[in-house]
Amino acid sequence: MFIDPFGRSITYLRISLTDRCNLRCVYCMPREGLQWQPRTDQLSAEEIVQVVATAAQGGVRRVRLTGGEPLVHPNIVEIVRRIASIPNIEEVSLTTNAMMLERLAQPLADAGLGRVNVSLDSLDADKFKRITRGGDLTRVWKGIVAAERAHLAPIKLNTVIVRGLNADELPALAQLTVENDWHIRFIEVMPIGNAQNWGEGFPAPSERYVSVQEMHADLSTFNLQSETTPIGNGPARTYRIPGALGTIGFISPLGEHFCQNCNRLRLTSDGRLRSCLVIPNEVSLREAVRNGKPLEEFFEQAIAQKPEHHDLKIAMPAGSQRGMSQIGG
Ligand code: 5AD
Ligand code: SF4
Repeated sequence: MFIDPFGRSITYLRISLTDRCNLRCVYCMPREGLQWQPRTDQLSAEEIVQVVATAAQGGVRRVRLTGGEPLVHPNIVEIVRRIASIPNIEEVSLTTNAMMLERLAQPLADAGLGRVNVSLDSLDADKFKRITRGGDLTRVWKGIVAAERAHLAPIKLNTVIVRGLNADELPALAQLTVENDWHIRFIEVMPIGNAQNWGEGFPAPSERYVSVQEMHADLSTFNLQSETTPIGNGPARTYRIPGALGTIGFISPLGEHFCQNCNRLRLTSDGRLRSCLVIPNEVSLREAVRNGKPLEEFFEQAIAQKPEHHDLKIAMPAGSQRGMSQIGG
């Protein structure tokens, strides 16, 4: 079984299926996109299945597919089907911008997908388009509705809060949980991905950050009640508006508690195991999987490197890091 040097069981694998995306959210990528990995550097569906099979033997029970945007992967339904049928894999979920979800929700559910997390940073169509540089809010709503219909539940919404951009929408976004069984998580913007200038009309780097404490205070009129049983075991502190169907979570990547119960490992789209979102240590298993070699030792190496905790501020020298879309935020 995979247990790290600090006694944490590794039961959760996040897989970046591709570094490509059909959007260019300002906090994630520059407008012109990134230097995409050559396709030949990326793991094939077959190779991903091999890696997950090894992970499952070591105790991984839940898999999340991310990106980039996982739905732009041409074989996404097949990948879900194959991962879901690996013995001991109890849940396959996916993080998506939902631009392609309307058509794919039902086929994905049929293939064994359990649920989806949808990125939703604004309720205003124009602002949404500006933040995502081309996203269509109507399409995203249709995707969310299709996911509900396909019982990809509970639906989680991810909202990165940025001062001067969407922080004013906190109450309206929180309000969504009153009548919908949706679980929104407000995320502190991280100096990872696109930490540079976002261009005309966007807040400067030093203005953007809003702490979860401040977000919580902005929602004080809702009398949020603390929830003891969050769904899944992500890093959110969870609350509920009294009587609401859904919940509200706060994710503070800069906060310490994030690391304490960390049960996760990441697989990058170019076939490296990464033990921490922030610390750049990676173990490549691409050559091994291509040569049909056993993969367990690579997992052991990566898990042995898992740090007790990170200090995001110290660990992020500007410009030297891989973005979220490459490591599977
Ligand atoms: N800060 C915080 N979250 C980010 N994401 C991507 N880049 C950042 C960043 N700089 C997260 C968002 C998005 C998901 C795909 O990745 O939650 O919804
Ligand atoms: Fe694409 Fe997600 Fe990055 Fe937005 S945050 S550009 S949807 S990968």
